[in-house]
Amino acid sequence: MYLGLDLGTSGLRAILTDEQGSVQAEAEAGLALSHPHSGWSEQDPEDWITACKAVVAEIGRKAPRALAGLRGIGLSGHMHGATLIDGDDKVLRPCILWNDTRSIAEAKALDAAPQMREITGNIVFPGFTAPKLAWVKTHEPELFDKTAKVLLPKDYLRLWLTGEHISDMSDSAGTAWLDVGARAWSDAALAASGMRRDQMPDLVEGSAAGGHLRAALLSEWGIDGPVVVAGGAGDNAAAACGMGCLSEGSGFVSLGTSGVLMAGRDHYAPAPNSAVHSFCHAVPDLWYQMGVILAATDSLNWLSRTLGESPATLSGRLPDVASGPSDLTFLPYLSGERTPHNDSEIRGAFVGLDVSMERDDLTRAVIEGVAFALRDNLVALQSTGAKLGTVLAVGGGTRSRFWLTTLANVLQLPLSLPSSSELGAALGAARLAICADTGAAPSEVMTPPDIAQVITPDLSLSERYEAAFDRYRALYPALSNAG
Ligand code: XUL
Repeated sequence: MYLGLDLGTSGLRAILTDEQGSVQAEAEAGLALSHPHSGWSEQDPEDWITACKAVVAEIGRKAPRALAGLRGIGLSGHMHGATLIDGDDKVLRPCILWNDTRSIAEAKALDAAPQMREITGNIVFPGFTAPKLAWVKTHEPELFDKTAKVLLPKDYLRLWLTGEHISDMSDSAGTAWLDVGARAWSDAALAASGMRRDQMPDLVEGSAAGGHLRAALLSEWGIDGPVVVAGGAGDNAAAACGMGCLSEGSGFVSLGTSGVLMAGRDHYAPAPNSAVHSFCHAVPDLWYQMGVILAATDSLNWLSRTLGESPATLSGRLPDVASGPSDLTFLPYLSGERTPHNDSEIRGAFVGLDVSMERDDLTRAVIEGVAFALRDNLVALQSTGAKLGTVLAVGGGTRSRFWLTTLANVLQLPLSLPSSSELGAALGAARLAICADTGAAPSEVMTPPDIAQVITPDLSLSERYEAAFDRYRALYPALSNAG
């Protein structure tokens, strides 16, 4: 049996699978965020441990015999978070998360430092880990001096599970301290933010062993052991493992709080100027690239709060099939944007409001605006040489048929809908554990899901959507000059 643990921003999800990856039991425990100042986003790492104890206890109640036969654990986690610990492994301050924007100035300065983009293959975005440490160095120098190790969120959970300081390549690629092409820490990148190599965990591939479950936990959970803990992955790489998106041509689009368009790569093809993220994959010798937009379903959530109706009610009033672009254009930059603009200061807009327009016109424009932003990401990905055929569509936004048909028309790509529920990253984590325990080839374990339906673009509408996309693209420069 294998346990996949996915430490998400809003909760920890766990699934127990057999060696074929069939799910035996699931559990989830919620996690809170705190925002002590504007732009700050933090979590208490002790809450991750409490949540882990709760999900394992629930799995134990649901499937006691299966849990007793546990052989491996895989970890997935929200990326980029900075968990600072001292020489006794004591947490020094709340973890600074991926969506925390306090270190915009530090990120700009680091990004301008010679060689940073060349070494890391990426822009140093404010969400990444290195600028957070540069912020701590300036604003909390006494804590900075006490920092013996910096761990990513899922790797702090590993420390509790195994007693070891270890990370994997895919998650470490989002720190801005890794030479992403060489899959190794870079002393030059570390030095740029005042860090040293001894403050970093040891590195393993995601599908390799990254520690073993501590004896105390083995006896507490009633497991004979040994239980290997796989290197694991950052959440998007783990989701890709869960969906079989490993090699060139495979990819997914995720309509979650943020939006992601991901493409598997069989070689390292960084293109930092496009604001595409180029990261190591969770299995050896592969990389992946993705465009990230900061407000996908978050844009519809904003409209829902503003209009006082749930997102499902708003999108439910639209037709199932999109029949052409609207005259109203929405730019979804409600929290700034990563790909393709790398602009923390830009904010969103409606353009083309007419006195005849109503609530449903706003909903439609918001959904289309998110689709156009993802098309901008597709253009950026294609500029790196990435080729996408059919893409898997996942995330809460895919519950809206209108959103799906709009997205297929705007991307001009067929979208495949998996038939099973949203277990991507937790399943990917469990699959990494299977590889670490059995030595199976990742390509044999990370198979694609069963497909319930394929949404194909309506080619008779492509010209109209192209023209609308051109109008959308012309608006960012106007907005950014206005700001
Ligand atoms: C990726 C990113 C998010 C986080 C949180 O760069 O910032 O996807 O991993 O889920």
